[in-house]
Amino acid sequence: MAEVDDHTVKLKGPGGAAATIALLGATVVSFIPEDGEERLFKSSKSSVAGPKPVRGGIPIVWPCFGPAPKEPPFDKLTQHGFARSHVWKYEQGNDPAVAVFTLEPNADIKKVYAPDFRLKYTVKLTAGDVLETTLDVTNPSTASDPLKFQALLHSYFRLPEGTLPSDVTIDDSLTGLRYKDKVLNFQEGTEDRKSFTFVDETDRVYADAPKSFVVKYGKSQQGLKFEFSNLGDLVTWNPHVEKSASMADMEEDGWKKFICLEPGHVHDFINLQPGQTWTGFQRLTALSARLSLPANNAAL
Ligand code: BG6
Repeated sequence: MAEVDDHTVKLKGPGGAAATIALLGATVVSFIPEDGEERLFKSSKSSVAGPKPVRGGIPIVWPCFGPAPKEPPFDKLTQHGFARSHVWKYEQGNDPAVAVFTLEPNADIKKVYAPDFRLKYTVKLTAGDVLETTLDVTNPSTASDPLKFQALLHSYFRLPEGTLPSDVTIDDSLTGLRYKDKVLNFQEGTEDRKSFTFVDETDRVYADAPKSFVVKYGKSQQGLKFEFSNLGDLVTWNPHVEKSASMADMEEDGWKKFICLEPGHVHDFINLQPGQTWTGFQRLTALSARLSLPANNAAL
């Protein structure tokens, strides 16, 4: 059984990995694989007790990404929607490596968002330094209205000591992809770098990203292998010096300590028919000296 306190649920994986999930936003705030090195970043100025969404970990962005559209049902929402700002229900289970959380409309949500919905989020540790997160969105409506939404896992990855965002490389998986650059007022372009890295302020939305890729953390032995389904877009974000300093909940020099890689469905809205469920899935494998780094996807 998982360990539960007022604000968090703690998981233990079969091989000794650990994860902590805040009830606030069902935000995974810690993932420590078997080598004992924390892989997620959480700002020391942010609390799992709120009142603001957790600045770090893996906040769930739902039902809209970025500034909310000005039309109903989104017009009363704030940036990235409300899922990250509400306390989710932990569904007690027996497996110490699995936690299930749910969110349904409550009085506060109904004040700002009318559609009916059911969110279920499953967090699972499996052997081999793996963290899996599955988001199920159900449209329980009996009317004919589709449930319209975007979804994204706003994952903040902690870099090892001595590694900067500019040392991080993503294999050639993003090369040739179309993107919108939010730093440059949504300017569109095609990624022409052979290998992506984080230089300066970075805020790009890539469409049709691959279902799997590998990230390496500079000369360190650490990295991550990503696998997704139904999360076909990828946001790469790092606020760099100025924006980081302007964020009240970001710790000093926070930008140096993480990169955000955010898989989602954000290039348009999903229209989910009544009675249907949509599932977005992410599998993260922590790579370290114990698990040698693959050179590229072909080697996986
Ligand atoms: C990213 C967006 O997903 O989240 C950025 O692309 C945004 O534009 C960043 O600045 C952080 O957003 P927030 O609402 O958590 O400060």
